[in-house]
Amino acid sequence: MAEIKTAKTAGFCFGVDRAVKLVYEELEKHSGRVATLGPIIHNRDVVDDMKKKGVRIIESVDELEAGEKAVIRSHGVGRKIYDELVQKGNEFIDATCPFVARIHKIVREKSEEGYFILIAGDKNHPEVQGIVGHCDENCLVFKDESELKDFFEKKYKKLEKKLAIVAQTTYNILVWGECLKAIPEDKENILVFDTICNATSQRQSDAALLSEEADVMIVVGGKNSSNTVKLFNVCSEHCRSYHIENADELYTLNLKNADKIGITAGASTPAYIIKEVQNTMAEILEDINFEEALEQSFKKVHTGERVKGYIAALNNSEAIVDIGTKHTGYVPLSELTDDPSKKPSDVVSVGEEVDLIVTKINDQEGIVMLSKKKVDELVGFDNITKAKDEEKVLEGIVQNVVKGGVLVSVDGVKVFVPASQTGVPRDKSLDELLKKKVELKVIEVNEARRRAVGSIKAVAKAQKEAAKAAFWETAEVGKVYKGEVKSLTNYGAFVDLGGIDGMVHISELSWSRIKHPSQVVNVGDVLEVYIKELDKEAGRISLGFKKAEDNPWVKFENNYKVGDVVKAKVVSITPFGAFAQIIEGVDGLIHISQIADQRVENVADVLKVGQEVEAKITEVDIEKKRISISMRALLEPEKEEEAEDAE
Ligand code: F3S
Repeated sequence: MAEIKTAKTAGFCFGVDRAVKLVYEELEKHSGRVATLGPIIHNRDVVDDMKKKGVRIIESVDELEAGEKAVIRSHGVGRKIYDELVQKGNEFIDATCPFVARIHKIVREKSEEGYFILIAGDKNHPEVQGIVGHCDENCLVFKDESELKDFFEKKYKKLEKKLAIVAQTTYNILVWGECLKAIPEDKENILVFDTICNATSQRQSDAALLSEEADVMIVVGGKNSSNTVKLFNVCSEHCRSYHIENADELYTLNLKNADKIGITAGASTPAYIIKEVQNTMAEILEDINFEEALEQSFKKVHTGERVKGYIAALNNSEAIVDIGTKHTGYVPLSELTDDPSKKPSDVVSVGEEVDLIVTKINDQEGIVMLSKKKVDELVGFDNITKAKDEEKVLEGIVQNVVKGGVLVSVDGVKVFVPASQTGVPRDKSLDELLKKKVELKVIEVNEARRRAVGSIKAVAKAQKEAAKAAFWETAEVGKVYKGEVKSLTNYGAFVDLGGIDGMVHISELSWSRIKHPSQVVNVGDVLEVYIKELDKEAGRISLGFKKAEDNPWVKFENNYKVGDVVKAKVVSITPFGAFAQIIEGVDGLIHISQIADQRVENVADVLKVGQEVEAKITEVDIEKKRISISMRALLEPEKEEEAEDAE
């Protein structure tokens, strides 16, 4: 923030301070019946305050009302006014500044001594008019060195008088210096009185000193105050200067780009106004500071620029980012990640610093669109190159299906996987990979074009090989596996044993006779299988699926014997009899001769498929898997028994 410095001497001088105090003192004593001959000082605020308290400002003695106390202000007045006051009979306070009164005394005495008086000053200024009023019209007012030179060239000789030169108390010391140079060296006939008030000269030299080091000077004082105007002129010679009456005017000034701001104030500026100016200035500078900081924050951003941003907030579709400019930054979810399963909060968190790339700027709306993915892409591409060299397996999400393959996003980098490298069979659509997480190997990188080609198949192949190697290392006959049925053929089912397929022969799928594996299993079924045979060289694995304990012949042997009566279901009819299922997987033959106790010509005349019959087990040959059962045996029990006994 710019430094504010107030000149060592600024504001009310001794003379003005005295005059103001005299008025206020008198107001207290004289219950408001006070009239000043002209405004007591060139300061509206003070004058207004006095007016409120009852002070009247009059232009001439004539205007005085009876009983009203007149005040001669610090500027002083000519002799004539004193006479008028005496004549009018009103009491009056002479608040003429003692330094001004000294000038009155000098010019009066020197006039009486026959000197012609030269007064450096502004002839319209009340102080100068007052001085003139003590010279008996034996004087000349000059405003600067050129008018003085003019006087010496054209009038001095004709005048034939000695000269006494005085200056208005608030005369510009610099101009006064020039004037002194214009005075001829004539010590006997020309007397020069340096009557510039010390307060004024001190204020001016302090202001000059300060303005030399300041970038901007603020000169506070009434617009009609000549000493303030002079201060302003002194300051203007050294730096940009402004003349203001009060703190409010500060808001209209350009105080930007100033490191040091100086304040000075004219003789009629009360201390409280200077204080107000100081305070307001500090406030304004703070605002400017803020503005500058803001302007700094308005720093430009460019499309494609890489910036750092802080995550300010998150919602389901975007991250709101502070990138240190006036803009509000937005990173849409699609520019945060390629992973469709993720929300912004899965990728970044509030307060986190992230590297981003500007993708779009809308200065009018103060919006900047950003991408995290693009930065990730840059970093990601380096990783991709490295992964290729190291033959590393990478993970990515399939983003798009394009002509000839798919694009997989890996660490924000799009890797092209040709259809032939996707592992998807030719007759199937690549769409099945869309948005899926895949593993791939980078097989080609074009750094200049930032293109990478990958292969999903290469990973699958490598995995398969690794699985195969692991399988053969531990595989042994009898080892049990759980595996998914991958495909079916007429002669069996192929089961994935974890990267390697084994085959369950159709005969191994069921204890019953089946025509096709699909009668027992479907693709996708998970089977518990065991290794029946291994041929490592040929890479052939024969699997068993049937379990001994499920063998229906074993079950039969354990539960049935010759002579038992069973209920059986006719499953097929032949010319020589009918097969009937005793338990699942075990059928018994009812020979045509064993169907009834009389001759049966045609089996189908008596039995039908699906029919349940009762029969007796008459013969069992487990090895040959033959069982004979007889219905007739149940119809002729005695005969049968007799026959058996006879045997
Ligand atoms: Fe007096 Fe000097 Fe002030 S002359 S009124 S003290 S500026």
